[in-house]
Amino acid sequence: MSSKPISVLITGANRGLGLEMVKQMVETQGPLTPVSVLFACCRDPGGPRAEGLQALAKKHPDIIKIMCMDAADPKSIKQAAQQVASVVGKSGLNIIINNAAIAIRSPFFESTPEEMQNCFNINAIGPMVITQEFISLLRAAAKDSGTPGMSCRKAAVINISTIASSNGLANETYNKWRVLPYRVSKAAMNMMSVCASVELQKDEILCMMLHPGWVRTDLGGPEGELDTHESVEGMFRVMNSLTEKHCGALLNWKGETVPW
Ligand SMILES: NC(=O)c1ccc[n+]([C@@H]2O[C@H](COP(=O)([O-])OP(=O)(O)OC[C@H]3O[C@@H](n4cnc5c(N)ncnc54)[C@H](OP(=O)(O)O)[C@@H]3O)[C@@H](O)[C@H]2O)c1
Repeated sequence: MSSKPISVLITGANRGLGLEMVKQMVETQGPLTPVSVLFACCRDPGGPRAEGLQALAKKHPDIIKIMCMDAADPKSIKQAAQQVASVVGKSGLNIIINNAAIAIRSPFFESTPEEMQNCFNINAIGPMVITQEFISLLRAAAKDSGTPGMSCRKAAVINISTIASSNGLANETYNKWRVLPYRVSKAAMNMMSVCASVELQKDEILCMMLHPGWVRTDLGGPEGELDTHESVEGMFRVMNSLTEKHCGALLNWKGETVPW
C-alpha cells in the first residue's frame, strides 16, 4: 500500500544539507516520500546562493515552493507561516526541519557578545519562533492524520543539532572544534527542543533533535567524514523510524543516542 503524501518545510534549503534534503525528497523514493508540497525556505531566494534550489524548483514546480524566510527575523517567519497556511489549508503541515544555522568559529577568549547574540538569534531563537508560529499547522496535521501515536508522517519538528552541543563530550571535542558561540547556541537549542517536546506531546506532535554527522559542507568544511547524500539518507531513515519514544531525544544520522 502506498503512503499518504506528506507536507514538509525545511529552513536553510538553498545549500548544504538543506538542499540535499530537498533533492532526496523530490528525486528519490526514499523513506520520507512521497511529498505533496515542500516549502523550501531561504533568506535570499533570488540570490546566487539559491541557484541550485531554483533549478530544482523549476524541475518540480508542483511540489517545491520556495519561501523567503530569515530565521533571525520573526516578522519574516510570521509572513511565511501565513503563506504556508494558505497553501496547506485544513490538512496542515506534517514536518518542520529546522536546519538553518551559522557557525561562528571563535574560541573562548576571542568570542564577542555580538557573535554569541548572532548565533543565538539564528540557531536557538529562530527554531523556537518557527515552532511557535507554525504550531496551528502542525496541530491541524496531527488531527487530520487520524492515526494514534507520533511519527514524522503525522506531525513533527526536527531540530538539526550537533555533537558539538554536547556538554558530556566537550572535554574531548573542544580542541577539535573551537567554536564557542556555535556550541553554546546549539546547546540552548537542545534545551529549547526538549521543553517544546514536552509541550507538544499533548497534541501528539513529535519534537526531537538530529546530529547529521561531520559533513562536507560550507559549515562542516572539506575534512568532514560524510558527504551530504550519505548524511541525509541516514537522517531520513532515522526520521522515518521515530515514534513517541523519541520525544526530546538527540540521535545521530545512524539512529544512535548522542549524550548531551
Ligand atoms: N556540516 C556539518 O558537519 C554539520 C555537523 C553538525 C551539525 N550540522 C548542522 O546541520 C545544519 C545544516 O548545516 P550545513 O552543514 O548544511 O551548513 P551550510 O552549508 O553552511 O548551510 C547553512 C544553511 O543555513 C542557512 N542560513 C544561515 N543563516 C540563516 C538565516 N538567518 N536564515 C535562514 N537561513 C539561514 C544558509 O543560508 P545562506 O545561504 O543564506 O547563508 C544555508 O542554507 C545546521 O543546523 C548545522 O548546525 C552540520
